[in-house]
Amino acid sequence: MVEQLPEGLVTPVLVVDADVLDRNIARMAQAARTGGFALRPHAKSHKCAEIAGRQLRAGASGLSVATLSEAEVLAAAGVDDLFVACPLWLDAGRARRLHRLADKVALRVGADSVQAVRRLADAVRGSDRRVEVLVEVDCGARRTGVRAADAGRVAEAGADAGLRVVGAFTFPAHGYDHDPGARERAARDEEQALAEAAESLRERGLDAQVLSGGSTPTAGRHRAGPVGELRPGVYVFNDAQQLAIGTCTADDLALCVATTVISRPARDRFVLDAGSKVLGADRSPWVTGHGHLPRYPDATVTALWEHHAMVRLPEGAPAPALGSVLALVPNHVCTPVNLADELLIARGGVELDRWRVAARGANT
Ligand SMILES: Cc1ncc(COP(=O)(O)O)c(C=O)c1O
Repeated sequence: MVEQLPEGLVTPVLVVDADVLDRNIARMAQAARTGGFALRPHAKSHKCAEIAGRQLRAGASGLSVATLSEAEVLAAAGVDDLFVACPLWLDAGRARRLHRLADKVALRVGADSVQAVRRLADAVRGSDRRVEVLVEVDCGARRTGVRAADAGRVAEAGADAGLRVVGAFTFPAHGYDHDPGARERAARDEEQALAEAAESLRERGLDAQVLSGGSTPTAGRHRAGPVGELRPGVYVFNDAQQLAIGTCTADDLALCVATTVISRPARDRFVLDAGSKVLGADRSPWVTGHGHLPRYPDATVTALWEHHAMVRLPEGAPAPALGSVLALVPNHVCTPVNLADELLIARGGVELDRWRVAARGANT
């Protein structure tokens, strides 16, 4: 229970319930195994070597990251199989870093243009270890990625330039839409886009050995077939957004911000000492406020200042006493983690450990 906090905390601080964390990791690993999928969790959600280790020991084939610097931090911590799940655009500095990294770990990177794969090929020429490339295709998120039918064109340019292009990947961001059918629809879109991408590679004589998809909302919804690998990230902790769209229950929330009631300016209002500098400001249109208070589920976090969260209570509801320490579950967990130096690990209200957010701010 994430709201069971150790005594005497100096707030605000990010607290992780070790049992819920381990259960979330084990459940996803088991679901991937049962469904016949490789699991390559996205480390941007935790940026933490201890959690990466737990995911690998639970059976993950490697980890996904968003940036070269996240990959560098995890490689230094001993993770030896990494996928930079983003279309990499290399400048001279990044090209040198990629080359160095490729000599250390099994490295896979994303690309979604002919120009980008040519830069990649120039950067890794002469490296002993061959970098693998996945072409990013857009399955409906309208973020990055080429049309699935164009995957072969990018892949062929990469192969012609000497790269080892091994397949395609996609990210179903539209699985976060609020309507209840969004997650199933996004999973179908991933399957279709990856199948089409594989066909497009085959038409150019290239074999799509790796077809990577998945997100926390769509993991567990894929049918056997095109999708071979899953990259969920948020599932390790879950958050108020996952609770709102129904991909987790309150029992699956592993991380909260422990925060103190520092002011009660009116009977129906109180103020906490965690603001946007701790929680981040992410707020999708369908969550009711800036986070979820498990002990006050009917309260609404109506606004954030840099160091304050304003909370409104329903008419007549009892307010917490000044000085109370409450658990506040963030809307989108990845941002508060990236803002924190460390995670306080607890079990049953007892502090067990503190883990460094080693890849905090590793955004290049
Ligand atoms: C490319 C990519 N893969 C995987 C993920 C992880 O998905 P989720 O955040 O739903 O766990 C993300 C998240 O943004 C992503 O951008």
